[in-house]
Amino acid sequence: MPKNLVAMSDLSNEEVYELIRRGLELKNGAKPLAREDLFVGNLFFENSTRTKHSFEVAEHKLKLNVINFETSTSSINKGESLYDTCKTLEMIDCKILVIRHPEREYYKNLRKLNIPLVSGGDGSGEHPSQCLLDLMTMYERFGKIEGLNVVIVGDIKNSRVARSNYNILTRLGAKVNFVCPEVFVDKTLGQVVDFDEIISQVDVCMLLRVQHERHDGQVIFDKESYHTGYGLTLERYKKLKDGAIIMHPAPVNRGVEIADELVEAEKSLIFEQMKNGMYVRQAILEKIIRDNNL
Ligand code: CP
Repeated sequence: MPKNLVAMSDLSNEEVYELIRRGLELKNGAKPLAREDLFVGNLFFENSTRTKHSFEVAEHKLKLNVINFETSTSSINKGESLYDTCKTLEMIDCKILVIRHPEREYYKNLRKLNIPLVSGGDGSGEHPSQCLLDLMTMYERFGKIEGLNVVIVGDIKNSRVARSNYNILTRLGAKVNFVCPEVFVDKTLGQVVDFDEIISQVDVCMLLRVQHERHDGQVIFDKESYHTGYGLTLERYKKLKDGAIIMHPAPVNRGVEIADELVEAEKSLIFEQMKNGMYVRQAILEKIIRDNNL
């Protein structure tokens, strides 16, 4: 069976640190692996800017041949299944598939494939490459993960970023709390706390977008009251510790989860996260190539 990366449970703690350190090495100028003989397919069935294009840049940096699968012009529109689509790419010598799909655990239907999968996000399930770039960003700033005090704020229930980060951060010895309205609570994750009480204690304040596309019109939402109750306002920013950082996987809804003027504030690493994503995705692809003897 191929060695995939579809959830953080696919990685041991040592493998997580190995990917973080390799991402940092690449950022500091190390030469990436070069494999001009391999084809990789990118299949994005859900909108994406960062994940899709930073995987694509990472693939080019590794000299891979990139197939950007076009969902709108593909035979998916003639009723072909995801499995048959992926099997087709496997049969025409594609060696790795990077897939984002709106269905949670879509990869369970792809177990018979003999080609490694890297998930770019599965609905509200997990987002492992985002999680690894988040960890790389924290490690780069603090030199450690263990002992960090992290608060994750927003639509926890519908967030694959919250799920991936909670699982691995707690495994690596960080403390994770959540801030969210009642409607966004996920009881399977950690405890929910008061934003104004915790803000002055955290090392990392991770903000999340409200995932309207996953609400089926069931959530009544008012931008201004959300911003006042759960957004990073100027008042809350002033309460952060000196060394604290702000993170957000983006896309950002300015003025909702974070005040417009704070997106590029001194403590914000939001755009640096995007840069780190390109490096950690190179590290992920190198590992997939190595682990699968491609
Ligand atoms: N953070 C993230 O996954 O962004 P995209 O949806 O633009 O890929």
